[in-house]
Amino acid sequence: MKDAYIKKFDSVYRSIDSYYGFELRKEFTDFFQQQPITGKSALDLGCGEGRYALFMAQKGCRTIAVDRSEAGIEKLKKTTKTHNLPISAKVIDIEDFVFGENQFDIIVAATVLDHLSEKLRLSTIKGIKKALKPDGTLYINVFTVSDPGYIRRQKGPEESNAANISDTAECMEYYFDSNELKSLFCDFHILYYYEGIEPDLSHGNPHDHGWACLLAKKPA
Ligand SMILES: C[S@@+](CC[C@H](N)C(=O)[O-])C[C@H]1O[C@@H](n2cnc3c(N)ncnc32)[C@H](O)[C@@H]1O
Repeated sequence: MKDAYIKKFDSVYRSIDSYYGFELRKEFTDFFQQQPITGKSALDLGCGEGRYALFMAQKGCRTIAVDRSEAGIEKLKKTTKTHNLPISAKVIDIEDFVFGENQFDIIVAATVLDHLSEKLRLSTIKGIKKALKPDGTLYINVFTVSDPGYIRRQKGPEESNAANISDTAECMEYYFDSNELKSLFCDFHILYYYEGIEPDLSHGNPHDHGWACLLAKKPA
């Protein structure tokens, strides 16, 4: 991850109590609220301040949460300690993360694969597939070519509306094509797949995002 991107995330996480808030995407909470995950193991890759890790740990799931941002991990460690949650939070670049074989029941990667260079993105996807246990559950979301940040990159500032672009759009490495995320996991059982453009009021100026969201299971 480029130094400038790390600095950007460190500064946004230090700027406010909870930069992305605690709200999670509905498909994630709808699915996991129904699941007994006490005692299961989870990995939250690129966890930021750890909102997904916190949700899983509050349900009793032993969670490893990793991010390159010291500020994000510092906050997560503090919350973990205050609420005595089963989270192990670590400052680590995904590039250096060692994916074990059949290690986790759940893996979450929420808007992080799109922050990785192509080589790292592809090796991380391989790592995720390896580290998920058979019948384990995967939740990934990414931004797509319908995101206003992508349209600005393609068309330039004159032909795009800067007002509806996220303030961390500069840290994006890649916008996924339509159906690309789904095809990358075509060897998994797809439980849910969604693409669409939605307003985001959770951080910075109100802006829009083009989402692709996937819930899938590794074949047993
Ligand atoms: C858009 S934020 C999402 C944070 C969190 N997943 C959430 O949904 O609240 C992207 C996160 O990915 C992290 N990240 C990006 N590249 C990374 C890398 N190579 N290794 C570890 N973390 C990385 C950033 O530091 C940032 O916290």
